[in-house]
Amino acid sequence: MIVERMVQENDSPIATNLLKSNARRPIIAIDGPAGAGKSTIARHLARYFGLLNLETGAMYRAFAFKALNAGVSLEDVPSLLQLSIRTTIHLEPTEQGNLVFLDGVDVTGQLREPAVTDGASRVSVHPQIRSWMVGLQQELGASGGVVMEGRDIGTVVFPHADVKIFLDAAPEVRGLRRYDQLDQTAAAEVQPEEVVRELRARDERDRNRADSPLKAAADAVLLDSTHLTLDEVVSQAETIVVEKLGLQSTASGMSPS
Ligand code: DC
Repeated sequence: MIVERMVQENDSPIATNLLKSNARRPIIAIDGPAGAGKSTIARHLARYFGLLNLETGAMYRAFAFKALNAGVSLEDVPSLLQLSIRTTIHLEPTEQGNLVFLDGVDVTGQLREPAVTDGASRVSVHPQIRSWMVGLQQELGASGGVVMEGRDIGTVVFPHADVKIFLDAAPEVRGLRRYDQLDQTAAAEVQPEEVVRELRARDERDRNRADSPLKAAADAVLLDSTHLTLDEVVSQAETIVVEKLGLQSTASGMSPS
């Protein structure tokens, strides 16, 4: 299914100009390891430039959730493939993030459990599962106008994306940010070091899998947020997009050149 974004009342001048112009709708790829801040930055860029934000990690999470519930081993590729044939996954971008529909049911609230997080990383090592997901993602972004975030967007899903940003940060910093995002109950049940350890293990798997491992595309702009505040990362990411898209300042805000 192809998704498209219309002009909304509270859009920024730049978003309105971009959406009303005849310029081709851009594709912005945001890749990077877990906890680097991809979702926050992608959501901001989408709002600011009038694009749709698509979180591809949520698709791997939804499939892992289904496999776990069906009692299918995450290493059993033939059974996973059988399961994939009977699975539909759809993302619906909203201001607060993506809603995730699995076989038509909203499962958004169930995809952040540790078992699902770990499972998503496990199912994503299988090339057949990846090629299914990549096809779905290419379809979703086919008409442009998207900020797509994941691990292989700039390298595999959209190698010709208009803008590619690889967002990174030191593992300890990413782990502690993740810990700080936990609600009180979850934070009471886990030590910060454990969160860092889990994140390192997932990084290791995501970076070392044989098929499309997490890595920066040769033409991606690297943005390391280890020593930056959120506002600084947002502002640098905006500048990268403005420069790469060749946007010009006009009286009514930024416009395509
Ligand atoms: O971004 P996330 O934490 O929701 O991603 C969950 C897992 O899905 C991640 O550990 C690796 C996998 N993934 C992937 O392999 N390729 C993507 N484009 C997105 C996520």
